[in-house]
Amino acid sequence: MTETFTIAVDGPAAAGKGTIAKALAEHFGFAHLDTGLLYRAVGAKHLLGVDPAKASQTLTAEDLQGDDLRGPEVAQAASKVAVIPEVRAALLSFQRSFACRAGGAVLDGRDIGTVICPQANAKLFVTASPETRADRRFAELAAKGAATSRAQVLADVKERDERDQDRVEAPLKPAEDAIVIDTTELAIDDAIAAAIAVVEPLRVR
Ligand code: CDP
Repeated sequence: MTETFTIAVDGPAAAGKGTIAKALAEHFGFAHLDTGLLYRAVGAKHLLGVDPAKASQTLTAEDLQGDDLRGPEVAQAASKVAVIPEVRAALLSFQRSFACRAGGAVLDGRDIGTVICPQANAKLFVTASPETRADRRFAELAAKGAATSRAQVLADVKERDERDQDRVEAPLKPAEDAIVIDTTELAIDDAIAAAIAVVEPLRVR
């Protein structure tokens, strides 16, 4: 397939965006980009003392590797560097080119449907209650042996949501034409099925 088809999957922390985006990519045979990883990589470098704008301008594929990027400390650092306009600007063109790649693309993040790819063919906004999201993230982190508590994870999720929603540049919000999928009461397989059901009819038009 040489045509382009872009699916934007946005939503707050730990809502299941990544899992849904990955499953959509697999189902439709598209490439997947976890854009949060770009901000996490910049956040991780900042924790090591690198200027965030500089870090965002010099990111390499290698910087996106490593399990350390998935931890809560890096998540907080990511949401702090994500408010900086220079950082967002530096990461824009890579994300836009990815979105327009031949063969189809799924990008998950916070501003894909609003800023990176407002012309996306399908836009999903995946959300869930903060408590449910904290439960899921806590289970993920605990399985990896991270020393944290559910209360700490809930506080972290709420703090990041607030920062992501309140920032001036590309705040977290659903695009006007996004379909909202609330996964609070949905098992992950049902959430994936709901997402596929939204996108499938748009594919055959
Ligand atoms: O996995 P989780 O939803 O917890 O976070 P993530 O998607 O890895 O994103 C980490 C942080 O990066 C978010 O809290 C946002 O501040 C920032 N981010 C952003 O500003 N724009 C994006 N497109 C993706 C992530």
